[in-house]
Amino acid sequence: MFFSFFVLSPIFLHYARGLSIPRDVTTLPAPLRTVDCSTHVPQPIQLALNVTTFPGPLPPTLVCGELDVPMDYSKPMAQDNTITVGFAINRPQKPAGLMLFHAGGPGLDAASAAWAIALNTSDAAAFAGLENFDFLAVNTRGIQFSNPLNCTSNTFYNNVSFAFPSTQAEFDQYQAATSNFIQSCVKNSSPPGIVQHVGTAEVIQDWDAIRAALNYEQIHFVGVSYGTFVGAAYAAKFPARVGRFILDAVIPHGMPFQDMITDQVAAINRLLLRADAFCMIDPSCPFHSQGKGGVVTAWQTVLSHALKSPLPAPQCGPGKGCNNPVTATDLRLGASVFFRANPDFPAFLQALDLALNKGDASKFAYVPAADIRESVVVPLLCSDLKITDKSFDAFQAFSTNSQKSDPAKMVYAQIWQFVLMCDAWPFEAPEPAKLPTNLPLLWTTSDFDLNLPTELATFAFEQAPNSTLLIRHGDDHVSFDLPNLPSHKLQIDFLRTGAFPPAQDNANVTVIPPGGKRSSVAPDPYAVPLGLVAGDFSAVENNLPQSASIHKPGSGSGQKSDSQSLLNGQNLKEVGRYVVLLQCLLCFSLSIL
Ligand SMILES: *[C@@H]1O[C@H](CO)[C@@H](O)[C@H](O)[C@H]1NC(C)=O
Ligand SMILES: *[C@@H]1O[C@H](CO)[C@@H](O)[C@H](O)[C@H]1NC(C)=O
Ligand SMILES: *[C@@H]1O[C@H](CO)[C@@H](O)[C@H](O)[C@H]1NC(C)=O
Ligand SMILES: *[C@@H]1O[C@H](CO)[C@@H](O)[C@H](O)[C@H]1NC(C)=O
Ligand SMILES: *[C@@H]1O[C@H](CO)[C@@H](O)[C@H](O)[C@H]1NC(C)=O
Ligand SMILES: *[C@@H]1O[C@H](CO)[C@@H](O)[C@H](O)[C@H]1NC(C)=O
Repeated sequence: MFFSFFVLSPIFLHYARGLSIPRDVTTLPAPLRTVDCSTHVPQPIQLALNVTTFPGPLPPTLVCGELDVPMDYSKPMAQDNTITVGFAINRPQKPAGLMLFHAGGPGLDAASAAWAIALNTSDAAAFAGLENFDFLAVNTRGIQFSNPLNCTSNTFYNNVSFAFPSTQAEFDQYQAATSNFIQSCVKNSSPPGIVQHVGTAEVIQDWDAIRAALNYEQIHFVGVSYGTFVGAAYAAKFPARVGRFILDAVIPHGMPFQDMITDQVAAINRLLLRADAFCMIDPSCPFHSQGKGGVVTAWQTVLSHALKSPLPAPQCGPGKGCNNPVTATDLRLGASVFFRANPDFPAFLQALDLALNKGDASKFAYVPAADIRESVVVPLLCSDLKITDKSFDAFQAFSTNSQKSDPAKMVYAQIWQFVLMCDAWPFEAPEPAKLPTNLPLLWTTSDFDLNLPTELATFAFEQAPNSTLLIRHGDDHVSFDLPNLPSHKLQIDFLRTGAFPPAQDNANVTVIPPGGKRSSVAPDPYAVPLGLVAGDFSAVENNLPQSASIHKPGSGSGQKSDSQSLLNGQNLKEVGRYVVLLQCLLCFSLSIL
């Protein structure tokens, strides 16, 4: 499905014939170095095309470059304190400004977005309207063309067969395995010490160095997911450089872990109700005839069975890549996988039916290789998130304290897992601090984002009195990659013109203007439309007759292009029936993490 990359536009053929683009666009000013894009192919494109070198001519607007920067900015650049940061830019002849893109992750490839724009592949749809900017996408340090970390993945989980520790001994075992993973990065990465210098504090200085070298006074910015954390840090450190900034699917600075975890547990409870609402309009849902609440009852029954004794998972077991049997912990983690990123309600409902009525809980089984605790996310994330109390008791307390927002006893929260992973981080991380700002930024959120619950965007917006909050009504992590929805047009218009979306409140979006206050009442999972207008696009959701909707959401299509996965497809691999996306934690669309 991600091969549509190769559907080339006429514009490509035009360039390929070598016509007219002035030479100076293709050469970057010193100290930047221009490198050959055909040998600097972003990893998702390498994977999609199964190449390391690009086979054929590339448009001259696509320029690849690199810059040497200090590994540790607190010290002078010296031979043992230098790393190289790589990037790609789409450079039209008369740029309307500099636009920087961060794809989230942390560590997800962004450069393929510049490629998509230059080649006008179907992935470019999310960026349509931005072709006349210098569109810059930087490899985060530690990734691909920026001194990639060399860590030993998919090894240490073999010692840890469970998803989540429930005793001190299991906690210790988990910490030992995560430490082993981190030590493998430390030992095998170069230059020595780089693992301690891959945090946001450094990344934003890399960006500013590239901006200065490109001779721009200001940057416009689109950051999704983890990119919001980095973008907000850039804005705080370099306020004079801030142009039009979109921070979409927000992880805020300075929000206490407990609050984020409690909000995420509330969010997964809302997702269960969204699945229930979906079942009410989908005649093929196994629980359809049971009406409102049928899905919640089914979940509670399966969970109570699993709590009594683990559930059989006949499609899993030794050599299959997934664990048999399925514990209550596995079941909860498995449910969150269905609900993350772009939630797949039909798949969840089928899996629940199999577990409840067919004696097969395989679809909820734990897949160790999908676990983020052995991906580059660990060093990138843990460089930023300081955990003060690293004890098992403190870890458990986060969950105990979130019970008040957990009527369906979903328990698992990914942000809780961040704490667990980063408990093993042996280095410093900055003190958590809020970043209040008077800058006029455009924050964006959706009602039912599980990865970064909407309350987190509210937290950031409340500290930004001159900012605007765009709320997309529907599901999904990230809105920017839904080019057919009304929210996307508001975002693109803002990037092109600087005009903030006007205050409004309708079925698709609510826009809260500067100084406005967001209602603290959580959105009603049964009241917000489902299906394409909500950003949902599984096969079943695509085929639902519009008349089946409780709310008759209109005829527009919010479908993300299939090849959107090009932007997300790094480290995609099949493990049994599971498509596992490693390295993609808080990322753009299709991730399961
Ligand atoms: C990728 O290309 C290599 C040869 O370059 C080939 O051996 C391999 O089978 C290809 N993989 C896929 C999935 O096509
Ligand atoms: C990119 O391709 C789309 C769809 O094929 C087309 O509508 C659009 O005009 C193209 N954009 C540019 C800048 O050529
Ligand atoms: C886990 O496995 C690795 C590799 O087999 C081994 O080196 C390490 O000591 C083990 N760690 C623990 C905590 O058992
Ligand atoms: C990564 O580290 C391993 C173990 O030391 C080594 O064998 C391998 O060559 C390294 N890979 C790179 C790309 O440096
Ligand atoms: C808010 O933003 C506007 C537009 O950029 C600016 O004129 C104004 O000074 C800002 N207000 C504050 C309090 O920073
Ligand atoms: C909501 O969005 C859909 C799809 O774009 C559109 O058809 C519908 O008219 C919009 N509704 C409102 C109230 O704007």
